[in-house]
Amino acid sequence: GSLEMYVDELPQMPKIYGFSMRHGHPTPVRLTIGMYQKKWKFHRDLPASTVFVFGTSAATATFPGPTIEAAQGVPLSVTWQNYLPARHILPWDPTVPTAIPRRGGVPTVVHLHGGVHPPQSDGSAFAWFTAGYRETGPAWSTPTYTYPNAQSPGVLWYHDHALGLTRANLLAGLLGAYVIRNPAVEAPLGLPCGDEFDRVLMLADRSFYADGSIYMNYTGDNPNIHPQWQPEYFGEAITVNGKAWPFLAVARRRYRFRIINTSNARFFNLSLTNGLPFTVVGSDTNYLSKPVTATSLLVSVAETFDVVVDFSQSTTSEAEVVNTAPYPYPDGDAPNDLNGKVMKFVISPAKAKDTSRLPAKLLDYVAVAEEEAVQRRYIVMYEYDDAVTGNPTHLYINGKRLEDPATETPRAGTTEVWEVINLTPDNHPLHLHLASFQATRVRGLVDEDAFKRCMEMLNDALRCDVSRHAVGEEVAVQEHEKGWKNVVKIAPGHVTTIVVKFFMVENGKPYPFDATAEPGYVYHCHIFFHSVEARKNQNQNQNQN
Ligand code: C2O
Repeated sequence: GSLEMYVDELPQMPKIYGFSMRHGHPTPVRLTIGMYQKKWKFHRDLPASTVFVFGTSAATATFPGPTIEAAQGVPLSVTWQNYLPARHILPWDPTVPTAIPRRGGVPTVVHLHGGVHPPQSDGSAFAWFTAGYRETGPAWSTPTYTYPNAQSPGVLWYHDHALGLTRANLLAGLLGAYVIRNPAVEAPLGLPCGDEFDRVLMLADRSFYADGSIYMNYTGDNPNIHPQWQPEYFGEAITVNGKAWPFLAVARRRYRFRIINTSNARFFNLSLTNGLPFTVVGSDTNYLSKPVTATSLLVSVAETFDVVVDFSQSTTSEAEVVNTAPYPYPDGDAPNDLNGKVMKFVISPAKAKDTSRLPAKLLDYVAVAEEEAVQRRYIVMYEYDDAVTGNPTHLYINGKRLEDPATETPRAGTTEVWEVINLTPDNHPLHLHLASFQATRVRGLVDEDAFKRCMEMLNDALRCDVSRHAVGEEVAVQEHEKGWKNVVKIAPGHVTTIVVKFFMVENGKPYPFDATAEPGYVYHCHIFFHSVEARKNQNQNQNQN
């Protein structure tokens, strides 16, 4: 049977502060955060589920983990600890490159998504560790990571990034939000603020067995090649902050929501049933220069949108958040009665006092400078299918595997133009570590079939006349997607031009960066079943993660 919707109240995850106030100034602290197995109630009527979650103790760990509140410019160190048991609660597949400890345990490593930090603190897929650091991956260096927080204020998130296990570890619950604030810069904007009116919404789809355990498929689409691996995971229930289809009672005023799609493969196309729009003020850790109003919001996997909703404009007493994104996106099934619903707002009838405002201008950002680019690269996403089943067996970038030597070796502080070409049937959310980018152009492909045939034979875009194929008809980039991003949707059958800054530059100075340092940084598709691992400063590339 299915669960009744809107019976659980939307939780707020516990907050932990990445600084302490001394004489009115935020000063650095050290935090210790562990990963624990525990039980979590996703719904009033569903038995508690076994999950892997973050917390400062087993008792306080939550799904999602605590929200880390950081202060811009105040460095934070976090010691990440693994208290997970000997065995995983979900299936995993050793036929894709995977961290496999010899003595059991669940390999994990934490990546701060959107963070600008040294490579040793990036959470390389090879820097995994098991409980008590008993076994560690080849790139493991330290239990304590440093986050300088030198970048712009905004919303980030942290999640597991272990080789081949990220998809299972995320499904199990190893994720949490991380907010960087700078009151001196942000308070004058006058946006809704404080715990009650400025909230994180972490979306995640999950399916459950009747006994409450999280469902994950045990059988692959090509079981003779990959016994368990499938290219996607779609859950029937939509959870927000760890509750399936929650409700939130709101006052008739403005609220700020920091929406993070932490699903493994599901895109959301969100809208409100009472017609209220979302006013987008930022995305992926950056403010837009001015608010942009959107009646619907397409949020890819791992993408974040920072929005304001003004409930004082509501003509109804309730508003559901609904989802119309097909799965897989864009050519899959239309959402059904379950996964087409997300949560509900119950709007108080009384008019509320509201001192917040929506300023005409937000924060200015460095303009994109394509002419400063020192390199133009072609990045081709290509899917390989099984001859008999027709199902995908693997997905590579430029035909390269994770194990292959690096081909993208940008320099810190420089700008590059990447022409990202998607020859697969699905939209892939591209994520680059330690870089910010803007999508400046989306074009169709010319003679796509000939291009694919050539790729099939030569597996090399540069030998396939790429500049002839990558010049089709232009499609407009949406206004609210034009800012600096760390995830961008790459439409199938199109070439998306992104102007990439390696990486964020603060006050004109690049964050100190050693281009030769191991373990380097990756770029990948954020559908964790595709994660195309790339060590971009020395080594870049591929594969199903
Ligand atoms: Cu959100 Cu490489 O990760």
